[in-house]
Amino acid sequence: MSHPFKEQRKLFPTLTNTIHLSSCSQSAISLPVKDAINHYLESWTENGMDWNGWMERVQDAKSEFAALINADPEEIAVLSSVSDAASAFASALSFTSDRNKVVTTDIDFPCIGHVWLSHKKRNAQVTFLPADENHTIPFESYEKAIDTNTLVTSIAHVSYYNGFKQNLKSLSSLAHSKGSFLFVDAYQSAGSVPIDVKDSNIDALVAGAQKFLLGVPGIAFMYIKKELANQLEPLTTGWFSRQNPFAFTNQILDYADGARRFDTGTPPMINAYAAHAGISLLNDIGIKPIETYLEQLSSVCIDTAQKHGLEIASPLDIQQKGSNTAIRVKNAGILEGHLKSQGIIVSARNDVLRIAPHFYNTEEEIVQTIEAIAHALITK
Ligand SMILES: Cc1ncc(COP(=O)(O)O)c(C=O)c1O
Repeated sequence: MSHPFKEQRKLFPTLTNTIHLSSCSQSAISLPVKDAINHYLESWTENGMDWNGWMERVQDAKSEFAALINADPEEIAVLSSVSDAASAFASALSFTSDRNKVVTTDIDFPCIGHVWLSHKKRNAQVTFLPADENHTIPFESYEKAIDTNTLVTSIAHVSYYNGFKQNLKSLSSLAHSKGSFLFVDAYQSAGSVPIDVKDSNIDALVAGAQKFLLGVPGIAFMYIKKELANQLEPLTTGWFSRQNPFAFTNQILDYADGARRFDTGTPPMINAYAAHAGISLLNDIGIKPIETYLEQLSSVCIDTAQKHGLEIASPLDIQQKGSNTAIRVKNAGILEGHLKSQGIIVSARNDVLRIAPHFYNTEEEIVQTIEAIAHALITK
């Protein structure tokens, strides 16, 4: 298979001496992201302070994320992590006696479960749907679980654990048919799978910058549907949630219009520089061709792993998975360290090693990595 992104790969010089397959955790550093971080440092050095310029870049990052998911920039809030964003969203909901159910899954990232469980004190009742033997959550499980008491259906677009990818459009129709909101954790899909929040009719969606968005930790974006935002008043708040943060009126709690009411304190400016550069690069390339290429790499990964008799904990149907292929191994953490000493970066979680390529990876890197895992398992 020829590499369609050969030219863009040159923007990632570290790839000449490492095989970087951990975009489910931290993607490889690129020259544009490094330059963007340096711009912030230069601006700080030269200007001492450039509050307006730095804030403009936060706005640019919001706009770039909005373009990535087909939203308006006013529908995007900036927070520090997906955990923060989910907490803020949950805090804005009312768990009433006849609508207090949260339907989520066992293969969502744990922080999402933690957030919903923390609202048990506010009357939330949380149901976790288990994965089946094909490592998926069947649609029928949602059909059984979501009812007219469901306040929110909270799903991962792509699972951090095994890459299982869900159909957002059918889940939003199902959730809405029962009067439930659809909250989507897109941290493992944003940047690698196309997202259209309008077409899929999503109420709220969150993603951080560190994984497939090519950025750094410390910044996350939250989409809140325009029609919904002004009905929500998050309990986590700050001066940037106000109509005019610079009014400096401490006795008036006026929520800004749109998603901006979910902003809290001074935004993570340097992280916004990195996020803006990473997302711009992705928007320039286009997510659809990236998805198509990653599907090809998934096939290579699954075929090679099967050839070597490795146990795969991801769906085998590439239409049902994102980039990440999870290989079940004993001592995943130790194996991750062993591979790192050979210049191969993969990511361990519990009982699996996750192989999560981005557009800059090659088929040869996937094959070499699977062979290294198979070899390590035989010689152990
Ligand atoms: C799908 C998903 N959601 C949430 C998180 C946690 O995000 P944060 O650390 O920004 O709260 C992760 C981290 O790996 C993740 O993969």
